[in-house]
Amino acid sequence: IQIAIFASGNGSNAAKIIEHFKLQKDVSFVVLSNNANAFVIERAKRLGVEVAVFEKNELYKTKSVLQFLECKEIDLIVLAGFMWLIPSNLVTAFPDKIVNIHPALLPKYGGKGMYGDNVHKAVIENKETNSGITIHLVNEKYDEGQVIFQEKVKIEPKDTAEILAHKIHALEHLYYPLIIEELIEEIRKKKNKKEKTS
Ligand code: GRF
Repeated sequence: IQIAIFASGNGSNAAKIIEHFKLQKDVSFVVLSNNANAFVIERAKRLGVEVAVFEKNELYKTKSVLQFLECKEIDLIVLAGFMWLIPSNLVTAFPDKIVNIHPALLPKYGGKGMYGDNVHKAVIENKETNSGITIHLVNEKYDEGQVIFQEKVKIEPKDTAEILAHKIHALEHLYYPLIIEELIEEIRKKKNKKEKTS
């Protein structure tokens, strides 16, 4: 099973996911980033994972990212802190095979501009009593694909955006690898079936 992780920044989720599958030898990863200076690249290298950096044109104008993914026979695309919109050619080429994690309870606090600390600041400013994480399939619009998993976290009155960010990250690190494992299990089953019938 070939997984492509798209990440633009720190990459803590990417690292947790890669570590989670270390012993599953039929699962392999490639990390793609739009940011040559992103810490995720360092993390991936340390974990022995191939890295590819691409530019805007290669995602939106030419088909170079798409061709790369097809060439690698990617089964699942995992977005982990990826800041750009996924273009429709990718959504079409990988139907229901692109998954994202969002640090809030969608449909609240989603959409353009709602990422990272912006989300937590808005949640705290609005005096919400809980927030959480959403794992969802990806379509052409920011944060609007089908939700596959949500988990809540309680916000205490004294919590700052920073504290909330920590709580959310802990939840992400716990659940994202597990949900991806479920998706991979489905892919395994389908592949085995195909092998048996061909
Ligand atoms: C996560 O909070 C995720 O929900 C959001 O971007 C953040 C990425 O964090 N989409 P990291 O780079 O994995 O540490």
